[in-house]
Amino acid sequence: MSIVTVATSPIEGQKPGTSGLRKKTRGFMAPHFVENFVQAILDAIGGAAGKTFVLGGDGRYFSPQVAQVILRMCAAQGAKKVIVGQNALLSTPAASHLIRLNKTDGGFIMSASHNPGGIDEDFGLKFNIANGGPAPESVTDAIYAATKTISEYRILEAHDVDLGAIGTTTLGGMAVEVVDPVSDYANLMETLFDFPKLRALFAGGFRMRFDAMCAITGPYATEILERRLGAPEGTVVNGTPLPDFGGMHPDPNPTWAHELMDVMFGPDAPDFGAASDGDGDRNMVVGKKTYVSPSDSLAVLAANAHLAPGYAGGISGVARSMPTSAAADLVADAKGIGKYETPTGWKFFGNLLDAGRVTLCGEESFGTGSSHVREKDGLWAVLLWLNILAERQTTVAEILKSHWQDFGRNYYSRHDYDALPVDKANAIVDGLRARLADLPGTEVEGMQIASADDFAYTDPVDGSVSKLQGLRIVFADGSRFVIRLSGTGTEGATLRLYLERYVAGPGGLGLDVQDALAPVIAAAESLACIKATSGRDGPDVIT
Ligand code: G1P
Ligand code: ZN
Repeated sequence: MSIVTVATSPIEGQKPGTSGLRKKTRGFMAPHFVENFVQAILDAIGGAAGKTFVLGGDGRYFSPQVAQVILRMCAAQGAKKVIVGQNALLSTPAASHLIRLNKTDGGFIMSASHNPGGIDEDFGLKFNIANGGPAPESVTDAIYAATKTISEYRILEAHDVDLGAIGTTTLGGMAVEVVDPVSDYANLMETLFDFPKLRALFAGGFRMRFDAMCAITGPYATEILERRLGAPEGTVVNGTPLPDFGGMHPDPNPTWAHELMDVMFGPDAPDFGAASDGDGDRNMVVGKKTYVSPSDSLAVLAANAHLAPGYAGGISGVARSMPTSAAADLVADAKGIGKYETPTGWKFFGNLLDAGRVTLCGEESFGTGSSHVREKDGLWAVLLWLNILAERQTTVAEILKSHWQDFGRNYYSRHDYDALPVDKANAIVDGLRARLADLPGTEVEGMQIASADDFAYTDPVDGSVSKLQGLRIVFADGSRFVIRLSGTGTEGATLRLYLERYVAGPGGLGLDVQDALAPVIAAAESLACIKATSGRDGPDVIT
C-alpha cells in the first residue's frame, strides 16, 4: 500500500447547498469529482491527521464506491480511525448520534436526502462537525473556497475494505471500525421514550403503518417498532433500503408518499401512519383520515413533549426556520420559553441547541428534531407522537383539534415550482426583491401590506450574519407569504412559495387549507407573478 499524490484541478459546481453538495449521480462519478470534494473538506477542517470520523449514508447508488474513496483518503492523510455503519449504511440522525457518542471530529454522510437515487438520479455528500450537526456556513464556505484552488489530493492505493463484516480492521495506519448501524440509535430512543408504555399500546391493538419508502429507515423502524415495541410484523412497509429506492421518490409528503395517504384515508385505516425520507431525517405523520402539517406537528410536539420521559423536565425553547408557520411560537409564548426564527436548513439550529437555548427545532419541510442529536430525526418524531398518543389515549385528529382550540390555527401550505429555467426563477425573485421597499402600506387583493423584507439572520450565539434568506411579505392581519429558491435541487431552479394565515378561533378552524389561504395565494401571484413569468399553470407539488 502506498500513498499517492494525484494532480488535479478545480471542478466547477462544488458549492455546498442547503445541506451538503448534491448533484446528478453521473456528475459525482466524473473523474476526480469525489476526490476533489473530499480533499477540500479535509483541507477546510485543517487536515485529517490524528482525527476520528464517522462514515455512512442512505445506501443510494454509488455510495459503496464513495465510501472506499473517503476511507482511502482519510487513511492517506493520517486519520486515526473511521467508524463506518455496516455496508456503509447510516441514517443521518444515527450518524449524528455516532459522532456525538464517540466524541469524534465529525463525519461524512453520503446522501441526497429526499432526492431520488440511481445512476440517473441524485447523489450527495455532506460533512458534519464534532457536535454532530451539519457544517456551519463558515466551514462550507471554506470547503467551497478549497474546491476552487485545489491542485492535488492524496489517496492510499489499497484494496477495498470489507464493510460487510462488523469489527475493526486497519487500512494503512488507520483503524476502520464497522458497526451495526441501528443498535446505538435504537438504544438512544429507549432513553427518551416510554418503551414499556408503547409496548402496551401495540399489545392493546393499536395499529400503525410506517412507510420507509425503500430507504434507510427500514432497518431502524423494523428494529424499534416491530422488534423492541412489539408492533405486528408488516407494520413497516417498503422496509428494505435499495440503491434506487425501488424507483420511489423518498420524500415523505402527501404527493410522494401517496400510497400511505391512500391507506390512511381509505376504509379500515390504521390508527397512525408515518413515512420517512431517503436518509431518515424527515417525517410525515398522519392520523386516521387526518393529515398533520409539519408546522403543526412541531407545535403539537412542543406543547406535549413533557409527556415523554426524555423531556419530562420541560423544554428550554423552540426554533423554527423562517418559512415554517408561527404555530410553534404560540406554544413557546404560552409556556414562557424561548422562540427563535432561523434561515432554512438544519445547520442554523446547531448553535442554539449547543447553547441549550432550545430543545426542539423544526421546519415546514417535514423536519423535526431535538437536542438528542444535531440533525432532524424522522423516527424520533414518530416515536414522540406515539408516546404522546399513548399518554393522552386519544386520536391524532382529537389532538390536532384541541391544539387549535387552545392556540388558534395557522393555516399553512407550500407551493413548489420545480425545475424552472434558472433565468425565469431569478426574474421572479429579483423582480419582487426590487419592489420590497415600496410595498409596506400598499394594498393588494384587498389586503394591506404591513412589512416586506429579505430575511437576514444574526446568530444570537456567535453573531454570524446570513443574508438573502427569503423574501417575506406580511399583511396587516398577520397573514404572510415567503418566496425563496431551493438550495437542494439538482435541475434548474426550484421556487418555493410559502403561505400562512392565522385564525384565532373558536370558529373557522376546520376550513380546507387551500380555501383558507386563497386570498394570500392571490396576493402572492399578483405581487410576484409566478405563474405569469414561469408560464406554469400552477405548482408542481403542494404540501
Ligand atoms: C429543503 C427544505 C429545507 C431542508 C432541506 C434539507 O431545502 O426546504 O427546509 O432543511 O431541504 O432537508 P431547500 O431545497 O428548500 O433549500
Ligand atoms: Zn433527508
